[in-house]
Amino acid sequence: MQSAQAATHLIANLPSANGVWTHLHPMPGALADGDMPAGEVSLVVEQGLIRWIGAGDAVPAAYAALPRFDGGGALLTPGLVDCHTHLVYGGQRANEFAMRLADASYEEVAKAGGGIVSSVRATREDDEDTLFASAARRLEELLAEGVCAIEIKSGYGLALEHERKQLRVARRLGEAYGVTVRTTFLGAHALPPEYAGRSQDYIDVVCNEMLPALAAEGLVDAVDVFCERIGFSLAETEQVFKAAKALGLPVKLHAEQLSDMGGSALAARYGALSCDHIEHLSAEGIATMKAAGTVAVLLPGAYYTLRDTHLPPIQALRDAGVPMAVSTDHNPGTSPALSLLLMANMACTLFRLTVPEALVGITRNAALALGLQDTHGTIGVGRPANFVLWGVQEASELAYWFGQRPVRTVVRQGRVAV
Ligand code: NIG
Ligand code: FE
Repeated sequence: MQSAQAATHLIANLPSANGVWTHLHPMPGALADGDMPAGEVSLVVEQGLIRWIGAGDAVPAAYAALPRFDGGGALLTPGLVDCHTHLVYGGQRANEFAMRLADASYEEVAKAGGGIVSSVRATREDDEDTLFASAARRLEELLAEGVCAIEIKSGYGLALEHERKQLRVARRLGEAYGVTVRTTFLGAHALPPEYAGRSQDYIDVVCNEMLPALAAEGLVDAVDVFCERIGFSLAETEQVFKAAKALGLPVKLHAEQLSDMGGSALAARYGALSCDHIEHLSAEGIATMKAAGTVAVLLPGAYYTLRDTHLPPIQALRDAGVPMAVSTDHNPGTSPALSLLLMANMACTLFRLTVPEALVGITRNAALALGLQDTHGTIGVGRPANFVLWGVQEASELAYWFGQRPVRTVVRQGRVAV
């Protein structure tokens, strides 16, 4: 990948965005405090924060002496938020892709040494710096498209030292790139080979040793489980949730991807931030998520890669008023995707989201899925200066084009990043 560019987004290398930004067209829903009258707006960035937003290009006298950046009529959106990724891992799994194309079943892939555990092997072999370098290249791709906040899960270590390594890399990426990183501990992602046939023993270690240790080191912002026939049971999931709650950590869930396990309703009862995948989500799951304010995170990249045909219940989620987010689910097995705009496109084409739903799904609702709604996902006075200017004529083009990157300028954490 683009190693020559690998340092371009490091926050230390980026110029300040402090100044007056004029001639901008906010996308509908972009502003935290509601849309302004149609027409251009200006905004002021100072010390990394948005200080002022107003219609037209006249700014209060207090800001008149600041540098000016002419947006040239560009579309303005909040910085994008990728709310579900497995960005840090060793190796890649192109061989599995080829096997799947030749109609290999999940079991056959697993027998040939593939699946999550093959990434576990590769991740355990890499040291922290190696993992940082490979994840940084992937992160650069997302940042170049306007991502300003990202969730990064562990789950390819499945042993304390290796889960720690992944989460430390996630934290380091956030510092080096000035991107908001929310870490999620996914120790219950798969059963590590050394625990074969001893699932309960492994879950006990996850709950009693790994999670408390990593939380004490400040490495865990949320806790996730892969609740599935090929993952962990409902009872095991609940045990992990209890351990998370005891430490005051929010939960989220890989739920209802391949079957209806009832995981979403369980997660919502634990006040989950989000339930993710949810192709097989039931009416009860939807009602419980609505009552709990849990976000439905849609992952069309995994649906596409697995050639799934069971659509998530979009109309029922819409009718119930459950907020929907869209994410890359970047991972080396089921969604090697590095474009959130492509995911927005696929959420529309495959899942029948409307374009506004898809765009809110990669901004406002994605921030909600991370508990970042007060600072990210919308543009507002007092919030960190995270926004993107796009070279398009209308917002719907963001979900319409694919395979191109119509970004004109990215402002991330008060710096001009692109
Ligand atoms: O979100 N569903 C489980 N976890 C990942 C896949 C991980 C992998 O195959 O490596 C997902 O799709
Ligand atoms: Fe995932």
